[in-house]
Amino acid sequence: MIILGIESSCDETALAIFDSKTGMLGHVVNSQHTIHSKYGGIVPELASRDHIKKLVPLLDDLLKNNKINLNQINLIAFTNGPGLLGPLLTGAAFAKSLAWSLNIKSIEIDHLEAHIFSAMISEKNLKPPFVSLLVSGGHTILSLIEKNSNCRVLGKTLDDSAGEVFDKVARHLGLSYPGGPEISREAEKIQKSSYKFPRPMIKSKDYNFSFSGLKTSVIQTINNIKLNKNSIADISHDFESSIIDVLITKTIKASNELGVDNIVITGGVSANKKLRNRFQNEAKLKNIFFPDIEFSTDNGAMIAYLGWIKSKSHFSNNLEINPDSISRFF
Ligand code: KG4
Ligand code: ZN
Repeated sequence: MIILGIESSCDETALAIFDSKTGMLGHVVNSQHTIHSKYGGIVPELASRDHIKKLVPLLDDLLKNNKINLNQINLIAFTNGPGLLGPLLTGAAFAKSLAWSLNIKSIEIDHLEAHIFSAMISEKNLKPPFVSLLVSGGHTILSLIEKNSNCRVLGKTLDDSAGEVFDKVARHLGLSYPGGPEISREAEKIQKSSYKFPRPMIKSKDYNFSFSGLKTSVIQTINNIKLNKNSIADISHDFESSIIDVLITKTIKASNELGVDNIVITGGVSANKKLRNRFQNEAKLKNIFFPDIEFSTDNGAMIAYLGWIKSKSHFSNNLEINPDSISRFF
């Protein structure tokens, strides 16, 4: 079965083709970072317009590069939420009308669920149950994915998500969007930081997170000094370590307390190299899984892959478009 995956929930237009016999054939991502960077955040209307512009040429490229003909596609999977409604509508309308014109089925995919299962694209032997840490721009959720793939939320952020705080602190440091990779690059320039920012809720008995106090503490520090190359690296280093310390401590605690040794870390922040290395080193007795780096941030491959898994139980062949701003999975 050949599945086309379409992702348009935010500021990435991303498509992929998955072959259930041979695996992921190819994927394309167009990021709109340069469009939104001058506004300091994503402008939904501009995002929708750019998705409309890019969907057809990206699909053409994807098909051409992988020598696939439109008529070979058997199913179209698309992100139905959560996300920005305008961008979701563009992807849903495109997916449904293409499926209708090809006389094939389409399937609605939850973006967060797709992130969580993205590690299974390359880790063929990975199966639930596992402890899942989903860390993206919009969400920080620790959950147990049970044997039947149902999700039991253990904890989530009470305020800002980890990715959001990376982006906001980066802006105050004069770095560009997305902030995570920028901060990471700065942090790598030094071995040790002279700062020691708070590690919020690291010792709390629950599995919740809170990052807005850390954000305020870092921004206050920035406002009280004259920024230069050295101080940007110095602040980035400990800020990044603070987030990683909290994420690792809470995730390992959940794994120990639940007696579940498989841990899966997904979402944009899971692209962070220090996070990846430290998880592997500090959780040696656990089995740690990450998606391939290119599938950590938003992509169409995770949508196509989950579309295939889900197609065994449900799909739709109507033209109703019903995107959701909140997740139906959590
Ligand atoms: O999953 P994603 O692409 O989009 C959402 O679903 O939100 O995540 C985007 C987030 C951004 O906040 C970005 O700064 C962060 O992931 N991110 C990183 C890294 N790469 C992307 N954070 C830390 N380190 C990275 N290398
Ligand atoms: Zn995402």
